[in-house]
Amino acid sequence: MKRLDRKDLLGLEGMSAEELKLILDTAQSFREISERPVKKVPALRGKTVVNLFFEPSTRTRASFELAEKRLSADNVNISKSTSSVVKGESLRDTAENLQAMKIDVIVIRHSASGAPHFLASLLDASVINAGDGAHEHPTQGLLDVFTLRDKLGDLNDKKIVIVGDIAHSRVARSNIFGLVTLGARVTVCGPPTMMPVKIEDLGVSVETDLRRAVEGADAVNVLRVQLERQNVNLFPSLAEYSVIYGVNKDIVAGMKPDGVVLHPGPMNRGVEISHDVADSDRAVILQQVTNGVAVRMAVLYLICEGARESAFDEPAEVEQQLNTKSV
Ligand code: CP
Repeated sequence: MKRLDRKDLLGLEGMSAEELKLILDTAQSFREISERPVKKVPALRGKTVVNLFFEPSTRTRASFELAEKRLSADNVNISKSTSSVVKGESLRDTAENLQAMKIDVIVIRHSASGAPHFLASLLDASVINAGDGAHEHPTQGLLDVFTLRDKLGDLNDKKIVIVGDIAHSRVARSNIFGLVTLGARVTVCGPPTMMPVKIEDLGVSVETDLRRAVEGADAVNVLRVQLERQNVNLFPSLAEYSVIYGVNKDIVAGMKPDGVVLHPGPMNRGVEISHDVADSDRAVILQQVTNGVAVRMAVLYLICEGARESAFDEPAEVEQQLNTKSV
């Protein structure tokens, strides 16, 4: 497969192993660009991307902005607090006004699950989901899978544990869809109050005891406790959560000796992850962030290539872009 035949990237649910591998392999090629003295290739010259962030973000927003710049796309950044949404404009009107300016891609983060799907059905421009409510965060899922593949090789039969607030986590859902499709054995672990009903139907096993969950694990992906998405207290206190579900040195000792620890960020140090684990050489948290730029470059490139008209009938080769001198 050389081409991603999709206008939008809304989630990893339903994405084939072939599509996932195309994105991961393309990201692998693009990763090297960020190591160059001049970190820029002309792959998306002439394309315009709008980053529409209606929720706070450090990593995802900066990562998309850098990915767009490194591919030579023009970009515009809009946040909720500085947009006309505060004057009462609807998401639909905002998006249609942006499209009227002849943009090519909207990258959207929104607190409402389904907001990117709504825009995708409305607009000719491509839509990339940068995290929608508790639904999906596909580029985070992809960069987590990319980092795991980088560290562990083929993910088939690897044991990956996702620990924390599974019910409120879009990161967990995207990870589950991507990892199960690639043949990994996924265990989800967390308090019963944070475990969605019938989560097993997604092809994962459930364990409420963290020590049992991590036995022989190749990787543990630690989720942030998302206090802002809880309407009720789902556990008695942060201190109690930390004692029962916090990933610390003792928990890591139960994993495979070369097992790795991931966290999507932002971290609540001392709650879901201890300082010593976060800063240890078992943690690949900053490598995830580095890989995120390459993954987002790949997604932007493949989505724009997929949306191209007949003038670009032949699939453009990433190789050709890489061999193009930095601009
Ligand atoms: N992982 C993640 O989505 O981080 P940000 O909220 O900082 O973008």
